[in-house]
Amino acid sequence: MTENKRFIQTLKGLPTDRPPFWFMRQAGRYLPEYMAIRKEAGSFLDLCYNPDFAVEVTLQPLRRYDMDAAILFSDILVIPHALGQHLEFRQGKGPVLEPVDTVEKLEKLSLDNLHEKLAPVYETVSRLSREIPGHTALIGFAGAPWTVASYMVGGKGSPDQAAARLWAYGDEVAFQALMDLLVEATSRYLIRQVEEGAEVLQVFDTWAGNLPMEEFRKWCMAPTKKIIENIRSRFPDIPIIGFPRGAGPRYPEYIRQTGVTAVSIDTSMPADWARDNIQSLCPIQGNLDPLLLVSGGKALEKAVLNILDTLSAKPFIFNLGHGIVPQTPPEHVAVVSDLVRNYVRN
Ligand code: CP3
Repeated sequence: MTENKRFIQTLKGLPTDRPPFWFMRQAGRYLPEYMAIRKEAGSFLDLCYNPDFAVEVTLQPLRRYDMDAAILFSDILVIPHALGQHLEFRQGKGPVLEPVDTVEKLEKLSLDNLHEKLAPVYETVSRLSREIPGHTALIGFAGAPWTVASYMVGGKGSPDQAAARLWAYGDEVAFQALMDLLVEATSRYLIRQVEEGAEVLQVFDTWAGNLPMEEFRKWCMAPTKKIIENIRSRFPDIPIIGFPRGAGPRYPEYIRQTGVTAVSIDTSMPADWARDNIQSLCPIQGNLDPLLLVSGGKALEKAVLNILDTLSAKPFIFNLGHGIVPQTPPEHVAVVSDLVRNYVRN
């Protein structure tokens, strides 16, 4: 089955009739049908841990837009939750965690119940692999250790990840122990997703861009490389997409060092720079500004066509440079989907 999917072909570097597309955060609050299920589920975590609901919200955007890939509905923070860290999603505030910022608190976390706690997520993957349309690929995912650690240490999202950076500078040994724990948990988690039917994996390093070079090597590239080695020792051919958001000119080194199959480029990356400096190394995914998807109109169409014209001569997956935001009009997503679907390379 997997062989005939446009998305998989592109990740193998093979030509297709047109570029495949999907959107990061394609399931979510911009869709009224998501809001209805979200209300029924109660809390966001109850939605993630209920396979009936999680399967349904994964399929919702496909019914509207027939993307070439479905992404498992879950969140990157289920890993700290499964390790025993307290986690809540508060309305309008995002995630709130009990910070892990001392060795004592770190020692309380444990891998012992990881698979048991994540069992509903595995069930969701398994059902999705049977329920998605035959031409659609199923993407599993996890957060990269640095990004997940930034929430674990700070206890919430922050624009500069100061808490995690300060802990890493102040007590490198303790921070390395946290990263090692996350490498192990994330490797096991992603391997199980593949066992349950995920055909592609994406690793989200949303906050990689704020790291200075030495720390980028230590906390972004090295842990990602280890996770990929662990997964490939079990599944040598599984395609893995890396998203080191904000990595800028470090993308080529990231690709060479980590062994990713493809990279997702963020909104700030010039498409022609990516074509000239990255696309000979691996397939590229990206990178429409999610806010253009909010504003729409001629500027949206122009940007979509510019990205397609610049990147589609070589293996390319159309996507956003970051996730869809809640105020996005669903009809704008339809406009972009149709543009990509009908695109003819000139
Ligand atoms: O792409 C998809 O459709 C799959 C689902 C998905 C979610 N989160 C659902 C979600 C994925 C792939 C993620 C990844 C994720 N989660 C990242 C990395 C990618 C990125 O966007 O930067 C990060 C940093 C998180 C952590 C997280 N989860 C934050 C900071 C928030 C709050 C901000 C927000 O948008 O509300 C979440 C909550 C979250 N994750 C929602 C969804 C649909 C909204 C929760 C709700 O419905 O109330």
